[in-house]
Amino acid sequence: MSQSFLGCFYLLFFLTLDPWFSKPSITLTPTQQISTGMNVSIECQGAESYLTFSLFKSNNLIASQEAEENRNATKFFFSEVRLEDGGSYTCRYHRIGFPFRWSESSDPMELVVTDPWFSKPSITLTPTQQISTGMNVSIECQGAESYLTFSLFKSNNLIASQEAEENRNATKFFFSEVRLEDGGSYTCRYHRIGFPFRWSESSDPMELVVTDSSLSKPSIKVLPNERISPGQNITIECQGPEKGLNFSLYKSGELITSQVTESERNRAEFPFFNVGLEDEGNYTCQYHQCVEEYHATSLHTILTVFYLHPDSSLSKPSIKVLPDERISPGQNITIECQGPEKGLNFSLYKSGELITSQVTESERNRAEFPFFNVGLEDEGNYTCQYHRRGNPFAWSEPSNATELVVRGEKIGWMFHLPNTSSLSSPGDLSPKPANFVRPSPLVIPGHLCCAACLP
Ligand SMILES: *[C@@H]1O[C@H](CO)[C@@H](O)[C@H](O)[C@H]1NC(C)=O
Ligand SMILES: *[C@@H]1O[C@H](CO)[C@@H](O)[C@H](O)[C@H]1NC(C)=O
Ligand SMILES: *[C@@H]1O[C@H](CO)[C@@H](O)[C@H](O)[C@H]1NC(C)=O
Ligand SMILES: *[C@@H]1O[C@H](CO)[C@@H](O)[C@H](O)[C@H]1NC(C)=O
Ligand SMILES: *[C@@H]1O[C@H](CO)[C@@H](O)[C@H](O)[C@H]1NC(C)=O
Ligand SMILES: *[C@@H]1O[C@H](CO)[C@@H](O)[C@H](O)[C@H]1NC(C)=O
Ligand SMILES: *[C@@H]1O[C@H](CO)[C@@H](O)[C@H](O)[C@H]1NC(C)=O
Ligand SMILES: *[C@@H]1O[C@H](CO)[C@@H](O)[C@H](O)[C@H]1NC(C)=O
Ligand SMILES: *[C@@H]1O[C@H](CO)[C@@H](O)[C@H](O)[C@H]1NC(C)=O
Ligand SMILES: *[C@@H]1O[C@H](CO)[C@@H](O)[C@H](O)[C@H]1NC(C)=O
Ligand SMILES: *[C@@H]1O[C@H](CO)[C@@H](O)[C@H](O)[C@H]1NC(C)=O
Ligand SMILES: *[C@@H]1O[C@H](CO)[C@@H](O)[C@H](O)[C@H]1NC(C)=O
Repeated sequence: MSQSFLGCFYLLFFLTLDPWFSKPSITLTPTQQISTGMNVSIECQGAESYLTFSLFKSNNLIASQEAEENRNATKFFFSEVRLEDGGSYTCRYHRIGFPFRWSESSDPMELVVTDPWFSKPSITLTPTQQISTGMNVSIECQGAESYLTFSLFKSNNLIASQEAEENRNATKFFFSEVRLEDGGSYTCRYHRIGFPFRWSESSDPMELVVTDSSLSKPSIKVLPNERISPGQNITIECQGPEKGLNFSLYKSGELITSQVTESERNRAEFPFFNVGLEDEGNYTCQYHQCVEEYHATSLHTILTVFYLHPDSSLSKPSIKVLPDERISPGQNITIECQGPEKGLNFSLYKSGELITSQVTESERNRAEFPFFNVGLEDEGNYTCQYHRRGNPFAWSEPSNATELVVRGEKIGWMFHLPNTSSLSSPGDLSPKPANFVRPSPLVIPGHLCCAACLP
Protein backbone atom coordinates (compact mmCIF):
# COMPACT_ATOMS: atom_id res chain seq x y z
CA MET A 1 0.00 0.00 0.00
CA SER A 2 1.45 3.34 -0.98
CA GLN A 3 1.37 6.26 1.44
CA SER A 4 -1.05 8.15 -0.76
CA PHE A 5 -3.38 5.22 -0.92
CA LEU A 6 -3.23 4.91 2.90
CA GLY A 7 -4.01 8.61 3.23
CA CYS A 8 -6.98 8.16 0.98
CA PHE A 9 -8.09 5.17 2.94
CA TYR A 10 -7.87 7.11 6.25
CA LEU A 11 -9.71 10.01 4.75
CA LEU A 12 -12.48 7.70 3.71
CA PHE A 13 -12.67 6.49 7.27
CA PHE A 14 -12.64 10.03 8.59
CA LEU A 15 -15.64 10.87 6.48
CA THR A 16 -17.55 7.84 7.64
CA LEU A 17 -20.70 8.65 9.51
CA ASP A 18 -21.73 6.02 11.92
CA PRO A 19 -25.48 5.65 11.39
CA TRP A 20 -25.85 4.15 14.86
CA PHE A 21 -24.65 7.29 16.56
CA SER A 22 -27.38 9.66 17.48
CA LYS A 23 -27.12 13.33 16.65
CA PRO A 24 -25.44 15.27 19.47
CA SER A 25 -27.15 18.23 21.08
CA ILE A 26 -25.47 21.56 21.71
CA THR A 27 -26.41 24.10 24.38
CA LEU A 28 -25.12 27.49 25.33
CA THR A 29 -25.00 28.83 28.88
CA PRO A 30 -26.10 31.54 29.53
CA THR A 31 -28.71 31.22 26.82
CA GLN A 32 -28.94 34.89 25.86
CA GLN A 33 -27.61 38.39 26.24
CA ILE A 34 -23.98 37.44 26.19
CA SER A 35 -21.66 40.39 26.34
CA THR A 36 -17.91 40.60 26.03
CA GLY A 37 -16.06 39.51 29.17
CA MET A 38 -18.69 37.01 30.28
CA ASN A 39 -17.82 33.39 30.93
CA VAL A 40 -19.71 31.18 28.54
CA SER A 41 -19.90 27.44 28.11
CA ILE A 42 -21.02 25.29 25.22
CA GLU A 43 -22.15 21.83 26.20
CA CYS A 44 -22.18 18.97 23.72
CA GLN A 45 -24.12 15.87 24.58
CA GLY A 46 -24.24 12.41 23.01
CA ALA A 47 -26.17 9.28 23.86
CA GLU A 48 -23.48 7.26 25.61
CA SER A 49 -20.26 7.59 27.55
CA TYR A 50 -16.59 7.24 26.51
CA LEU A 51 -16.93 9.81 23.77
CA THR A 52 -14.63 12.49 22.44
CA PHE A 53 -16.46 15.64 21.39
CA SER A 54 -15.25 18.14 18.81
CA LEU A 55 -16.46 21.68 18.56
CA PHE A 56 -16.65 23.39 15.18
CA LYS A 57 -17.04 27.07 14.44
CA SER A 58 -18.34 27.75 10.93
CA ASN A 59 -17.44 24.10 10.17
CA ASN A 60 -13.83 24.54 11.27
CA LEU A 61 -12.65 22.32 14.07
CA ILE A 62 -11.61 24.49 16.99
CA ALA A 63 -11.41 22.10 19.95
CA SER A 64 -11.76 18.45 20.96
CA GLN A 65 -12.31 17.10 24.41
CA GLU A 66 -13.08 13.76 26.02
CA ALA A 67 -16.17 13.51 28.17
CA GLU A 68 -15.46 12.66 31.78
CA GLU A 69 -15.84 9.02 32.67
CA ASN A 70 -19.46 7.89 32.76
CA ARG A 71 -20.65 11.19 31.31
CA ASN A 72 -22.31 11.49 27.91
CA ALA A 73 -21.49 15.20 27.60
CA THR A 74 -18.70 17.72 27.87
CA LYS A 75 -18.45 21.47 28.27
CA PHE A 76 -16.23 23.81 26.29
CA PHE A 77 -15.49 26.92 28.28
CA PHE A 78 -14.95 30.40 26.89
CA SER A 79 -13.65 32.50 29.69
CA GLU A 80 -14.17 36.19 29.09
CA VAL A 81 -15.81 35.86 25.72
CA ARG A 82 -14.66 38.21 22.97
CA LEU A 83 -16.49 39.67 20.00
CA GLU A 84 -14.51 37.33 17.73
CA ASP A 85 -16.00 34.33 19.53
CA GLY A 86 -19.38 35.09 18.03
CA GLY A 87 -20.35 32.56 15.38
CA SER A 88 -22.23 29.45 14.45
CA TYR A 89 -21.10 26.38 16.39
CA THR A 90 -21.70 22.66 15.92
CA CYS A 91 -20.50 19.53 17.71
CA ARG A 92 -19.68 16.01 16.60
CA TYR A 93 -18.33 13.09 18.55
CA HIS A 94 -16.60 9.74 18.13
CA ARG A 95 -15.92 6.92 20.56
CA ILE A 96 -12.61 7.22 22.39
CA GLY A 97 -10.05 5.30 20.37
CA PHE A 98 -12.13 5.23 17.18
CA PRO A 99 -11.30 8.54 15.58
CA PHE A 100 -12.63 7.65 12.13
CA ARG A 101 -16.26 7.00 12.83
CA TRP A 102 -18.06 10.16 13.67
CA SER A 103 -21.54 11.16 14.57
CA GLU A 104 -23.35 13.59 12.36
CA SER A 105 -23.22 17.30 13.28
CA SER A 106 -25.45 18.79 15.92
CA ASP A 107 -27.84 21.51 14.87
CA PRO A 108 -25.98 24.81 14.61
CA MET A 109 -25.99 27.00 17.69
CA GLU A 110 -25.39 30.70 17.33
CA LEU A 111 -23.23 32.48 19.82
CA VAL A 112 -24.21 36.11 19.54
CA VAL A 113 -22.06 38.56 21.45
CA THR A 114 -23.26 41.98 22.50
CA ASP A 115 -20.96 44.68 21.26
CA PRO A 116 -20.54 47.30 23.96
CA TRP A 117 -19.73 49.92 21.33
CA PHE A 118 -23.11 49.70 19.69
CA SER A 119 -25.58 52.13 21.13
CA LYS A 120 -28.81 50.82 22.54
CA PRO A 121 -31.59 50.83 19.96
CA SER A 122 -34.84 52.63 20.66
CA ILE A 123 -38.24 51.12 20.13
CA THR A 124 -41.44 53.01 19.45
CA LEU A 125 -45.00 52.06 18.90
CA THR A 126 -47.38 53.82 16.53
CA PRO A 127 -50.06 54.75 17.42
CA THR A 128 -48.87 55.39 20.92
CA GLN A 129 -52.12 54.87 22.74
CA GLN A 130 -55.51 53.21 22.67
CA ILE A 131 -54.67 50.29 20.47
CA SER A 132 -57.64 48.09 19.96
CA THR A 133 -58.08 44.86 18.07
CA GLY A 134 -58.15 45.30 14.28
CA MET A 135 -56.02 48.43 14.21
CA ASN A 136 -52.85 48.66 12.13
CA VAL A 137 -49.85 49.10 14.34
CA SER A 138 -46.16 49.52 13.69
CA ILE A 139 -43.14 49.05 15.90
CA GLU A 140 -40.14 51.08 14.86
CA CYS A 141 -36.63 50.14 15.90
CA GLN A 142 -33.89 52.72 15.56
CA GLY A 143 -30.14 52.43 15.83
CA ALA A 144 -27.37 54.99 15.48
CA GLU A 145 -26.12 54.16 12.00
CA SER A 146 -27.24 52.74 8.68
CA TYR A 147 -26.71 49.30 7.09
CA LEU A 148 -28.23 47.52 10.05
CA THR A 149 -30.43 44.46 10.37
CA PHE A 150 -32.97 44.78 13.17
CA SER A 151 -34.50 41.89 15.03
CA LEU A 152 -37.72 42.12 16.97
CA PHE A 153 -38.25 39.98 20.06
CA LYS A 154 -41.44 39.27 21.93
CA SER A 155 -40.86 38.07 25.49
CA ASN A 156 -37.22 37.53 24.45
CA ASN A 157 -38.13 35.24 21.56
CA LEU A 158 -37.04 36.35 18.12
CA ILE A 159 -40.12 36.91 16.01
CA ALA A 160 -38.84 38.88 13.01
CA SER A 161 -35.70 40.32 11.42
CA GLN A 162 -35.54 43.03 8.84
CA GLU A 163 -32.89 45.16 7.16
CA ALA A 164 -33.22 48.90 7.40
CA GLU A 165 -33.66 50.60 4.07
CA GLU A 166 -30.51 52.05 2.61
CA ASN A 167 -29.34 55.17 4.41
CA ARG A 168 -31.90 54.71 7.14
CA ASN A 169 -30.98 53.96 10.77
CA ALA A 170 -34.41 52.52 11.54
CA THR A 171 -36.95 50.02 10.34
CA LYS A 172 -40.63 49.43 10.97
CA PHE A 173 -42.31 46.13 11.74
CA PHE A 174 -45.96 46.22 10.73
CA PHE A 175 -48.82 44.46 12.45
CA SER A 176 -51.83 44.75 10.27
CA GLU A 177 -55.09 44.25 12.11
CA VAL A 178 -53.58 43.67 15.49
CA ARG A 179 -54.96 40.80 17.55
CA LEU A 180 -55.17 40.34 21.28
CA GLU A 181 -52.44 37.76 21.13
CA ASP A 182 -50.06 40.36 19.67
CA GLY A 183 -50.08 42.07 23.04
CA GLY A 184 -46.86 41.61 24.95
CA SER A 185 -43.45 42.92 25.80
CA TYR A 186 -41.26 43.73 22.78
CA THR A 187 -37.58 44.55 22.43
CA CYS A 188 -35.26 45.17 19.45
CA ARG A 189 -31.62 44.49 18.77
CA TYR A 190 -29.54 45.08 15.68
CA HIS A 191 -26.38 43.97 13.99
CA ARG A 192 -24.48 45.34 11.00
CA ILE A 193 -25.47 43.74 7.75
CA GLY A 194 -23.00 40.88 7.14
CA PHE A 195 -21.97 40.55 10.82
CA PRO A 196 -24.71 38.40 12.24
CA PHE A 197 -23.00 37.44 15.50
CA ARG A 198 -22.15 40.85 16.86
CA TRP A 199 -25.29 42.48 18.19
CA SER A 200 -26.33 45.57 20.03
CA GLU A 201 -27.80 45.24 23.48
CA SER A 202 -31.58 45.08 23.73
CA SER A 203 -33.71 48.16 23.61
CA ASP A 204 -35.83 48.96 26.61
CA PRO A 205 -38.92 46.80 26.61
CA MET A 206 -42.01 48.27 25.02
CA GLU A 207 -45.39 46.98 26.07
CA LEU A 208 -48.01 46.54 23.42
CA VAL A 209 -51.31 46.57 25.22
CA VAL A 210 -54.24 45.69 23.04
CA THR A 211 -57.63 46.89 24.11
CA ASP A 212 -60.31 44.35 23.58
CA SER A 213 -63.06 46.33 21.95
CA SER A 214 -65.59 43.70 22.92
CA LEU A 215 -65.09 44.41 26.62
CA SER A 216 -67.27 47.03 28.18
CA LYS A 217 -65.90 50.04 29.96
CA PRO A 218 -65.60 49.93 33.69
CA SER A 219 -67.37 52.58 35.71
CA ILE A 220 -65.60 54.66 38.27
CA LYS A 221 -66.85 56.76 41.11
CA VAL A 222 -65.71 58.32 44.29
CA LEU A 223 -67.39 57.63 47.60
CA PRO A 224 -68.99 59.09 49.64
CA ASN A 225 -69.24 61.89 47.04
CA GLU A 226 -67.18 63.95 44.64
CA ARG A 227 -66.75 66.94 46.91
CA ILE A 228 -63.67 66.08 48.81
CA SER A 229 -62.34 67.99 51.74
CA PRO A 230 -58.80 67.87 53.06
CA GLY A 231 -58.22 65.15 55.61
CA GLN A 232 -61.19 63.12 54.48
CA ASN A 233 -61.06 59.40 53.83
CA ILE A 234 -62.45 58.48 50.44
CA THR A 235 -62.79 55.42 48.28
CA ILE A 236 -62.47 55.25 44.51
CA GLU A 237 -64.60 52.45 43.26
CA CYS A 238 -64.19 50.74 39.89
CA GLN A 239 -66.78 48.37 38.61
CA GLY A 240 -66.56 45.99 35.69
CA PRO A 241 -68.90 43.64 33.88
CA GLU A 242 -67.87 40.42 35.55
CA LYS A 243 -66.22 38.92 38.59
CA GLY A 244 -62.57 38.29 39.32
CA LEU A 245 -61.00 41.05 37.19
CA ASN A 246 -57.69 42.77 37.76
CA PHE A 247 -58.41 46.49 38.07
CA SER A 248 -55.73 49.10 37.67
CA LEU A 249 -56.07 52.63 38.86
CA TYR A 250 -54.18 55.34 37.02
CA LYS A 251 -53.59 58.90 38.07
CA SER A 252 -52.90 61.24 35.16
CA GLY A 253 -52.05 58.20 33.07
CA GLU A 254 -49.65 56.62 35.56
CA LEU A 255 -50.46 53.31 37.14
CA ILE A 256 -50.72 53.88 40.87
CA THR A 257 -52.15 50.64 42.10
CA SER A 258 -53.97 47.54 41.03
CA GLN A 259 -56.31 45.15 42.71
CA VAL A 260 -57.70 41.78 41.75
CA THR A 261 -61.28 41.52 42.90
CA GLU A 262 -62.40 38.62 44.96
CA SER A 263 -64.04 35.92 42.95
CA GLU A 264 -67.46 37.02 44.16
CA ARG A 265 -67.16 40.69 43.31
CA ASN A 266 -67.04 42.78 40.18
CA ARG A 267 -65.81 45.91 41.96
CA ALA A 268 -62.50 47.08 43.30
CA GLU A 269 -62.34 49.65 46.06
CA PHE A 270 -59.26 51.78 46.36
CA PRO A 271 -59.21 53.58 49.70
CA PHE A 272 -57.48 56.91 50.17
CA PHE A 273 -56.90 58.05 53.69
CA ASN A 274 -56.48 61.61 54.71
CA VAL A 275 -56.58 63.05 51.20
CA GLY A 276 -54.34 65.99 50.52
CA LEU A 277 -53.49 68.34 47.70
CA GLU A 278 -51.15 65.71 46.24
CA ASP A 279 -54.13 63.48 45.57
CA GLU A 280 -55.75 65.94 43.22
CA GLY A 281 -55.83 64.69 39.68
CA ASN A 282 -57.50 62.70 36.97
CA TYR A 283 -58.08 59.09 37.80
CA THR A 284 -58.90 56.35 35.34
CA CYS A 285 -59.51 52.76 35.81
CA GLN A 286 -59.06 49.84 33.56
CA TYR A 287 -59.40 46.14 33.99
CA HIS A 288 -57.62 43.14 32.60
CA GLN A 289 -59.17 39.89 31.85
CA CYS A 290 -56.58 37.39 32.62
CA VAL A 291 -55.97 35.57 29.41
CA GLU A 292 -52.68 33.75 29.48
CA GLU A 293 -49.90 35.74 27.82
CA TYR A 294 -52.23 38.27 26.28
CA HIS A 295 -52.27 41.79 27.40
CA ALA A 296 -55.89 42.46 26.74
CA THR A 297 -57.44 45.32 28.54
CA SER A 298 -60.74 47.00 28.64
CA LEU A 299 -61.39 50.51 27.57
CA HIS A 300 -61.07 52.80 30.47
CA THR A 301 -63.02 55.61 31.94
CA ILE A 302 -61.73 58.80 33.34
CA LEU A 303 -62.67 60.28 36.64
CA THR A 304 -61.64 63.70 37.58
CA VAL A 305 -61.15 64.14 41.24
CA PHE A 306 -60.90 67.74 42.09
CA TYR A 307 -59.38 68.08 45.44
CA LEU A 308 -60.44 71.04 47.49
CA HIS A 309 -57.34 73.07 47.98
CA PRO A 310 -56.75 74.00 51.58
CA ASP A 311 -56.44 77.57 50.48
CA SER A 312 -55.95 79.64 53.60
CA SER A 313 -57.38 82.68 51.90
CA LEU A 314 -60.68 80.83 51.67
CA SER A 315 -61.84 80.96 55.26
CA LYS A 316 -64.65 78.84 56.53
CA PRO A 317 -68.06 80.33 55.70
CA SER A 318 -70.71 80.83 58.33
CA ILE A 319 -74.20 79.48 57.99
CA LYS A 320 -77.44 80.32 59.71
CA VAL A 321 -81.13 79.69 59.47
CA LEU A 322 -83.43 82.75 59.38
CA PRO A 323 -85.59 83.43 61.22
CA ASP A 324 -83.51 82.38 64.16
CA GLU A 325 -86.35 80.95 66.17
CA ARG A 326 -88.63 77.96 66.38
CA ILE A 327 -89.67 76.98 62.86
CA SER A 328 -93.13 75.67 62.17
CA PRO A 329 -94.29 73.60 59.24
CA GLY A 330 -95.48 75.69 56.31
CA GLN A 331 -93.24 78.60 57.24
CA ASN A 332 -90.95 80.32 54.72
CA ILE A 333 -87.34 80.36 55.85
CA THR A 334 -83.91 81.25 54.47
CA ILE A 335 -80.58 79.56 54.96
CA GLU A 336 -77.88 82.14 54.73
CA CYS A 337 -74.26 81.45 53.95
CA GLN A 338 -71.65 84.13 54.34
CA GLY A 339 -68.10 84.22 53.07
CA PRO A 340 -65.18 86.62 53.40
CA GLU A 341 -65.47 88.34 50.04
CA LYS A 342 -67.78 89.18 47.15
CA GLY A 343 -68.59 87.19 44.06
CA LEU A 344 -68.47 83.71 45.52
CA ASN A 345 -70.24 80.59 44.32
CA PHE A 346 -71.84 78.85 47.33
CA SER A 347 -73.05 75.29 47.43
CA LEU A 348 -75.50 74.11 50.03
CA TYR A 349 -75.41 70.54 51.34
CA LYS A 350 -77.93 68.68 53.37
CA SER A 351 -76.36 65.83 55.34
CA GLY A 352 -73.38 65.94 52.99
CA GLU A 353 -75.41 65.88 49.77
CA LEU A 354 -75.27 68.77 47.40
CA ILE A 355 -78.72 70.26 47.03
CA THR A 356 -78.09 73.50 45.22
CA SER A 357 -75.60 76.23 44.51
CA GLN A 358 -75.82 79.95 44.10
CA VAL A 359 -73.55 82.74 43.00
CA THR A 360 -73.73 85.83 45.17
CA GLU A 361 -74.49 89.12 43.57
CA SER A 362 -71.35 91.05 42.86
CA GLU A 363 -71.97 93.46 45.76
CA ARG A 364 -72.65 90.84 48.40
CA ASN A 365 -70.70 88.21 50.27
CA ARG A 366 -73.82 86.30 51.28
CA ALA A 367 -75.99 83.72 49.56
CA GLU A 368 -79.56 83.28 50.67
CA PHE A 369 -81.25 80.00 50.01
CA PRO A 370 -84.99 80.39 50.44
CA PHE A 371 -87.18 77.50 51.53
CA PHE A 372 -90.89 77.91 51.07
CA ASN A 373 -93.40 76.02 53.06
CA VAL A 374 -90.95 73.96 55.06
CA GLY A 375 -91.89 70.47 56.14
CA LEU A 376 -90.44 67.70 58.22
CA GLU A 377 -88.56 66.39 55.21
CA ASP A 378 -86.47 69.55 55.22
CA GLU A 379 -85.09 68.76 58.62
CA GLY A 380 -81.42 67.98 58.64
CA ASN A 381 -77.93 69.27 59.09
CA TYR A 382 -76.95 71.87 56.49
CA THR A 383 -73.49 72.99 55.54
CA CYS A 384 -72.18 75.26 52.88
CA GLN A 385 -68.96 75.63 51.01
CA TYR A 386 -67.80 78.14 48.41
CA HIS A 387 -65.32 78.72 45.67
CA ARG A 388 -64.30 81.85 43.84
CA ARG A 389 -66.18 82.26 40.61
CA GLY A 390 -63.15 81.84 38.37
CA ASN A 391 -61.75 78.80 40.13
CA PRO A 392 -64.12 75.91 40.58
CA PHE A 393 -61.36 73.64 41.83
CA ALA A 394 -60.37 75.49 44.97
CA TRP A 395 -63.03 75.13 47.58
CA SER A 396 -63.26 76.49 51.08
CA GLU A 397 -63.66 74.16 53.99
CA PRO A 398 -67.28 73.34 54.74
CA SER A 399 -69.03 75.56 57.23
CA ASN A 400 -70.05 74.32 60.65
CA ALA A 401 -73.28 72.39 60.33
CA THR A 402 -76.53 74.02 61.26
CA GLU A 403 -79.46 71.88 62.20
CA LEU A 404 -82.87 72.71 60.84
CA VAL A 405 -85.62 71.52 63.16
CA VAL A 406 -89.23 71.96 62.10
CA ARG A 407 -91.80 71.73 64.84
CA GLY A 408 -95.55 72.04 64.75
CA GLU A 409 -97.09 74.39 67.33
CA LYS A 410 -100.12 72.18 67.58
CA ILE A 411 -99.92 68.46 67.35
CA GLY A 412 -102.53 68.62 64.58
CA TRP A 413 -100.08 70.38 62.25
CA MET A 414 -97.94 67.34 62.22
CA PHE A 415 -100.61 65.44 60.34
CA HIS A 416 -101.27 68.11 57.78
CA LEU A 417 -97.81 68.83 56.54
CA PRO A 418 -97.38 69.62 52.91
CA ASN A 419 -96.01 66.58 51.08
CA THR A 420 -93.16 68.44 49.46
CA SER A 421 -91.35 71.61 50.10
CA SER A 422 -90.27 73.77 47.31
CA LEU A 423 -86.78 74.99 47.11
CA SER A 424 -85.52 77.72 44.95
CA SER A 425 -82.82 80.25 44.68
CA PRO A 426 -82.04 83.07 42.30
CA GLY A 427 -78.97 81.22 41.08
CA ASP A 428 -78.66 77.64 40.08
CA LEU A 429 -82.03 76.12 40.79
CA SER A 430 -81.72 72.48 40.11
CA PRO A 431 -79.85 70.24 42.47
CA LYS A 432 -77.16 69.01 40.22
CA PRO A 433 -74.98 66.07 40.97
CA ALA A 434 -71.53 66.94 39.77
CA ASN A 435 -70.59 64.93 36.77
CA PHE A 436 -67.04 63.82 37.09
CA VAL A 437 -67.06 60.78 34.94
CA ARG A 438 -65.95 61.49 31.44
CA PRO A 439 -65.49 58.99 28.69
CA SER A 440 -62.35 60.46 27.27
CA PRO A 441 -59.15 58.69 26.37
CA LEU A 442 -55.96 59.04 28.22
CA VAL A 443 -52.48 57.68 27.64
CA ILE A 444 -52.10 54.46 29.48
CA PRO A 445 -48.63 53.07 29.73
CA GLY A 446 -48.33 49.42 29.08
CA HIS A 447 -48.35 46.79 31.71
CA LEU A 448 -47.52 43.23 32.20
CA CYS A 449 -50.56 41.20 32.83
CA CYS A 450 -51.57 38.46 33.70
CA ALA A 451 -49.41 35.62 34.85
CA ALA A 452 -49.96 36.70 38.39
CA CYS A 453 -53.73 36.37 38.11
CA LEU A 454 -53.64 32.82 36.98
CA PRO A 455 -54.24 30.28 39.68
C1 LIG B 1 -14.43 33.79 34.41
O1 LIG B 1 -13.61 32.68 34.60
C2 LIG B 1 -12.33 33.02 35.09
C3 LIG B 1 -11.51 31.74 35.18
O2 LIG B 1 -11.67 31.01 34.05
C4 LIG B 1 -12.44 33.66 36.44
O3 LIG B 1 -11.19 34.07 36.90
C5 LIG B 1 -13.34 34.86 36.32
O4 LIG B 1 -13.58 35.40 37.61
C6 LIG B 1 -14.67 34.49 35.72
N1 LIG B 1 -15.44 35.69 35.49
C7 LIG B 1 -16.70 35.77 35.80
C8 LIG B 1 -17.36 37.08 35.49
O5 LIG B 1 -17.32 34.83 36.29
C1 LIG C 1 -26.97 11.86 29.12
O1 LIG C 1 -26.83 11.67 30.52
C2 LIG C 1 -27.79 12.36 31.30
C3 LIG C 1 -27.48 12.11 32.75
O2 LIG C 1 -26.10 12.18 32.99
C4 LIG C 1 -29.19 11.86 30.95
O3 LIG C 1 -30.15 12.60 31.66
C5 LIG C 1 -29.43 12.04 29.47
O4 LIG C 1 -30.67 11.49 29.10
C6 LIG C 1 -28.33 11.38 28.66
N1 LIG C 1 -28.56 11.76 27.27
C7 LIG C 1 -28.72 10.88 26.30
C8 LIG C 1 -28.97 11.43 24.93
O5 LIG C 1 -28.61 9.69 26.50
C1 LIG D 1 -54.60 47.92 7.65
O1 LIG D 1 -53.67 47.56 6.65
C2 LIG D 1 -54.24 46.78 5.61
C3 LIG D 1 -53.14 46.43 4.65
O2 LIG D 1 -52.05 45.94 5.36
C4 LIG D 1 -55.29 47.61 4.89
O3 LIG D 1 -55.91 46.84 3.88
C5 LIG D 1 -56.34 48.05 5.89
O4 LIG D 1 -57.26 48.93 5.28
C6 LIG D 1 -55.69 48.78 7.05
N1 LIG D 1 -56.70 49.03 8.06
C7 LIG D 1 -56.79 50.19 8.69
C8 LIG D 1 -57.85 50.30 9.74
O5 LIG D 1 -56.04 51.13 8.46
C1 LIG E 1 -31.52 58.33 12.84
O1 LIG E 1 -31.81 59.06 11.68
C2 LIG E 1 -32.69 60.15 11.88
C3 LIG E 1 -32.97 60.79 10.54
O2 LIG E 1 -33.12 59.83 9.57
C4 LIG E 1 -32.03 61.14 12.83
O3 LIG E 1 -32.93 62.20 13.10
C5 LIG E 1 -31.71 60.45 14.13
O4 LIG E 1 -31.01 61.33 14.99
C6 LIG E 1 -30.86 59.22 13.88
N1 LIG E 1 -30.74 58.55 15.15
C7 LIG E 1 -29.59 58.26 15.69
C8 LIG E 1 -29.64 57.60 17.04
O5 LIG E 1 -28.56 58.48 15.13
C1 LIG F 1 -59.48 57.93 58.20
O1 LIG F 1 -59.03 56.61 58.41
C2 LIG F 1 -58.06 56.52 59.44
C3 LIG F 1 -57.55 55.11 59.47
O2 LIG F 1 -58.58 54.20 59.28
C4 LIG F 1 -58.71 56.94 60.78
O3 LIG F 1 -57.73 56.86 61.78
C5 LIG F 1 -59.20 58.35 60.63
O4 LIG F 1 -59.91 58.72 61.80
C6 LIG F 1 -60.15 58.47 59.44
N1 LIG F 1 -60.44 59.89 59.24
C7 LIG F 1 -61.65 60.34 58.99
C8 LIG F 1 -61.79 61.81 58.79
O5 LIG F 1 -62.63 59.58 58.93
C1 LIG G 1 -57.55 66.50 34.28
O1 LIG G 1 -57.86 66.35 32.90
C2 LIG G 1 -58.29 67.53 32.29
C3 LIG G 1 -58.70 67.20 30.87
O2 LIG G 1 -58.09 66.05 30.43
C4 LIG G 1 -57.14 68.55 32.33
O3 LIG G 1 -57.57 69.75 31.74
C5 LIG G 1 -56.77 68.79 33.77
O4 LIG G 1 -55.67 69.67 33.83
C6 LIG G 1 -56.41 67.52 34.44
N1 LIG G 1 -56.21 67.79 35.84
C7 LIG G 1 -55.15 67.39 36.51
C8 LIG G 1 -55.06 67.80 37.94
O5 LIG G 1 -54.31 66.67 35.98
C1 LIG H 1 -67.57 76.53 64.15
O1 LIG H 1 -67.62 75.82 65.40
C2 LIG H 1 -66.50 76.05 66.24
C3 LIG H 1 -66.64 75.16 67.45
O2 LIG H 1 -67.93 74.69 67.62
C4 LIG H 1 -66.49 77.52 66.63
O3 LIG H 1 -65.37 77.78 67.49
C5 LIG H 1 -66.35 78.34 65.36
O4 LIG H 1 -66.42 79.73 65.70
C6 LIG H 1 -67.49 78.02 64.42
N1 LIG H 1 -67.20 78.71 63.17
C7 LIG H 1 -68.09 79.43 62.54
C8 LIG H 1 -67.62 80.10 61.28
O5 LIG H 1 -69.24 79.53 62.92
C1 LIG I 1 -94.35 81.85 51.61
O1 LIG I 1 -94.00 82.38 50.34
C2 LIG I 1 -95.01 82.19 49.37
C3 LIG I 1 -94.48 82.66 48.01
O2 LIG I 1 -93.71 83.79 48.12
C4 LIG I 1 -96.23 83.00 49.78
O3 LIG I 1 -97.25 82.82 48.82
C5 LIG I 1 -96.69 82.49 51.13
O4 LIG I 1 -97.75 83.29 51.59
C6 LIG I 1 -95.58 82.56 52.17
N1 LIG I 1 -96.00 81.91 53.38
C7 LIG I 1 -95.81 82.42 54.60
C8 LIG I 1 -96.29 81.61 55.75
O5 LIG I 1 -95.26 83.51 54.74
C1 LIG J 1 -71.25 77.37 40.90
O1 LIG J 1 -70.62 76.16 41.30
C2 LIG J 1 -71.30 74.99 40.91
C3 LIG J 1 -70.59 73.82 41.50
O2 LIG J 1 -69.24 73.87 41.14
C4 LIG J 1 -71.41 74.93 39.40
O3 LIG J 1 -72.13 73.77 39.01
C5 LIG J 1 -72.10 76.19 38.88
O4 LIG J 1 -72.10 76.17 37.48
C6 LIG J 1 -71.38 77.41 39.39
N1 LIG J 1 -72.16 78.56 38.97
C7 LIG J 1 -71.64 79.58 38.33
C8 LIG J 1 -72.58 80.68 37.92
O5 LIG J 1 -70.44 79.66 38.13
C1 LIG K 1 -77.57 66.64 62.96
O1 LIG K 1 -76.30 66.41 63.61
C2 LIG K 1 -76.44 66.11 64.99
C3 LIG K 1 -75.06 66.03 65.60
O2 LIG K 1 -74.19 65.37 64.72
C4 LIG K 1 -77.25 64.84 65.19
O3 LIG K 1 -77.42 64.57 66.56
C5 LIG K 1 -78.60 65.01 64.52
O4 LIG K 1 -79.35 63.81 64.57
C6 LIG K 1 -78.45 65.40 63.05
N1 LIG K 1 -79.80 65.75 62.56
C7 LIG K 1 -80.28 65.20 61.45
C8 LIG K 1 -81.66 65.56 61.07
O5 LIG K 1 -79.62 64.43 60.74
C1 LIG L 1 -99.89 64.01 50.02
O1 LIG L 1 -99.64 62.62 50.19
C2 LIG L 1 -100.83 61.86 50.35
C3 LIG L 1 -100.45 60.43 50.65
O2 LIG L 1 -99.10 60.23 50.55
C4 LIG L 1 -101.68 62.01 49.10
O3 LIG L 1 -102.90 61.29 49.28
C5 LIG L 1 -101.98 63.45 48.84
O4 LIG L 1 -102.71 63.61 47.64
C6 LIG L 1 -100.71 64.26 48.77
N1 LIG L 1 -101.02 65.67 48.63
C7 LIG L 1 -100.47 66.47 47.76
C8 LIG L 1 -100.87 67.90 47.78
O5 LIG L 1 -99.62 66.04 46.97
C1 LIG M 1 -52.85 43.31 37.81
O1 LIG M 1 -52.48 44.20 36.79
C2 LIG M 1 -51.35 45.00 37.12
C3 LIG M 1 -51.15 46.03 36.04
O2 LIG M 1 -51.12 45.47 34.81
C4 LIG M 1 -50.14 44.11 37.31
O3 LIG M 1 -49.02 44.88 37.64
C5 LIG M 1 -50.44 43.13 38.43
O4 LIG M 1 -49.38 42.24 38.57
C6 LIG M 1 -51.72 42.36 38.14
N1 LIG M 1 -52.04 41.65 39.37
C7 LIG M 1 -52.25 40.37 39.37
C8 LIG M 1 -52.51 39.75 40.70
O5 LIG M 1 -52.23 39.73 38.32
